[in-house]
Amino acid sequence: MAGWLDLEGKGALVIGAGGLGGATALSLAAAGMRTAVVDRDAAALDALLAAASAAGGEVVALAADISTPDACREVVARAVEAVGTPRAFVHAVGRNDRRPVLELGDADWEAILTLNLSTAWWLGQEVGRRMVEAGEGRMVFVSSVSALLAHAHHAPYAATKGGINQMMRVMAREWAPHGVTVNAVGPGYVETDLTRAYLDRDGHREELESLVPARRLGVPAEVADAVTFLLSDRARFITGQCVYVDGGRTLV
Ligand SMILES: NC(=O)c1ccc[n+]([C@@H]2O[C@H](COP(=O)([O-])OP(=O)(O)OC[C@H]3O[C@@H](n4cnc5c(N)ncnc54)[C@H](O)[C@@H]3O)[C@@H](O)[C@H]2O)c1
Repeated sequence: MAGWLDLEGKGALVIGAGGLGGATALSLAAAGMRTAVVDRDAAALDALLAAASAAGGEVVALAADISTPDACREVVARAVEAVGTPRAFVHAVGRNDRRPVLELGDADWEAILTLNLSTAWWLGQEVGRRMVEAGEGRMVFVSSVSALLAHAHHAPYAATKGGINQMMRVMAREWAPHGVTVNAVGPGYVETDLTRAYLDRDGHREELESLVPARRLGVPAEVADAVTFLLSDRARFITGQCVYVDGGRTLV
C-alpha cells in the first residue's frame, strides 16, 4: 500500500492534531512520509506522538497558535527546517459556533473566519509559494458538507467552508502549470472533539445518523484515507476538486 502511494521519504505538513488532522498525520507517517504536525494544544500533540511511535511512523510536533499571518509564516519556516519543503500540505483546523444568525456578534463572526478561512489562506499561500518554486506539491484543505448544505445555526462556518472550496479552486487553477495540485475533502459528521459534545446531547447523534444514506457517522480514518489518496501520486491528475466523504449525506 505504502509503495503504491509513492509517498515514502517525502515531507508533509499537517495543520491540526485533532481528530481529522491527527488521523491524517498517522496515515501519512504510515505511508512513509516525514510528517510535521502543528497544533496549539500540547496534549493533542503528545497524544499524536505516542500514537505515531506505537505505529512506527515519523511525526514531528510543532507547537504554535496560527491565529496571525506572521505566526503562519513562522510555522511554515519551522516545518521546512524539520522536514524540508513539504511535498504534501493539509489544513485541518476549524471550529463551529452553533447559534442562529441573529444571536452572533461581530467578534463571533471574525473568530470563525480567522481560524477556518484566513489561516487556510495564510498557510496555503506560504506553502504554495515554496511548492511552485519546487515545481511539485499536493495540498488538501478540510472543507465540510456545510460548503453545500444550508444547515441552520451554521452561517459563519458554512461561509468559511464555501470560501475554502472557491479559494482552493483558484489556487488549483493558478498552480496546475507548476506541478502543484490543490483539492479539498468535505466530511460529513465524524465523531471528534469538535463534534462529540453536540452528538452526545438531546438525541443529535440518532437524528444525524438518520440523515445519512449510509445510516452512520464517519470515523476519522475514513477522512484520512481520502486525504492520503489525494496527496499521493495516484491522484496526480486530480486538481480543484472537493471530495465529499459523507456516506451520501450531500445526496439527500
Ligand atoms: N469532525 C467533523 O465532523 C467534521 C466535519 C466536517 C469538517 N470538519 C473539519 O475538519 C477540520 C478538523 O476538525 P476536527 O474534527 O479534527 O476538529 P478537532 O477539534 O478534533 O481538532 C482541531 C484542532 O485544531 C487545533 N486548533 C484550533 N485552533 C488553533 C489555533 N489557533 N492554532 C493551532 N491549532 C489550533 C485544536 O487544538 C485541535 O487540536 C476542521 O476544519 C473542521 O471544520 C470536521
